[in-house]
Amino acid sequence: MATEQTNGDGGTFAVQTARFQALAARFQALATTATPRVRAEHVAKTYVAHSLWPLVRRNRALTDASLEVAAGEIVAIVGANGSGKSTLMMIIAGILERDAGLVAVNGSLGYCPQTPVLYEKLTVDETFRLFGVAYDMDDGAIETSKGELMAALDFEVYHDYRIEHLSGGTRGKLNLALALLHDPDVLLLDEPYAGFDYETYLRFWEMSEEFAARGRSILVISHFVEQQERFHHIYRVTDGRCERER
Ligand SMILES: Nc1ncnc2c1ncn2[C@@H]1O[C@H](COP(=O)(O)OP(=O)(O)OP(=O)(O)O)[C@@H](O)[C@H]1O
Ligand SMILES: [Mg+2]
Repeated sequence: MATEQTNGDGGTFAVQTARFQALAARFQALATTATPRVRAEHVAKTYVAHSLWPLVRRNRALTDASLEVAAGEIVAIVGANGSGKSTLMMIIAGILERDAGLVAVNGSLGYCPQTPVLYEKLTVDETFRLFGVAYDMDDGAIETSKGELMAALDFEVYHDYRIEHLSGGTRGKLNLALALLHDPDVLLLDEPYAGFDYETYLRFWEMSEEFAARGRSILVISHFVEQQERFHHIYRVTDGRCERER
């Protein structure tokens, strides 16, 4: 107020402009934090599976599934086997078509499928290269990111192994590392630590927390949510619906 009185009209204008700019910046910040990174609304999916011709079996996997993940959040999806968790994640990842509903993802995506999709005859190095090129990364960026991820998950010794010669846990590490290779804004993880030993499991959580602290978002399907404090929110999928439990 004092500034307005002493500076005359020019001062008042400058103060008003500064206030307006400050207000606009606050709205901008609010809008950025309030916009969910991932939003699914009323998603429905029925699989049509052909059994003995002309019979057709319809599996209603999802009827009305909604969820949201904000920037910097780690959100869990839980639910019984066959409840539709992977179906919902595949729809969010854009690799499965939905029958109804809306999905919006704000930013780049990394997806770690429940069953690793890998070429058995390629080596670990070649696999990183294949994915890196697909993500449009240059050689230097692929090498740096690959080195960091293999060191963090402790599987550098397998860099020249063919995929067919890897153990289940090491495949799991590679599956996770490939989803993280291009440092995506949103990470979709379908039971990522099922085959991990305890040390790797703890390292996974350290990495996830660092990732989320940088404003990235993680949506993770998990059967083990005994440490509920690790998650900002937990959604449960039952009877085709997905509802926030916490
Ligand atoms: N390709 C498919 N064709 C037909 N039905 C399918 C197909 N994939 C999944 N389903 C059915 O859809 C339902 C949901 O499956 P989904 O894989 O999403 O479950 P989930 O919650 O991830 O289970 P899990 O905990 O075992 O991984 C199940 O009834 C399943 O049998
Ligand atoms: Mg599943």
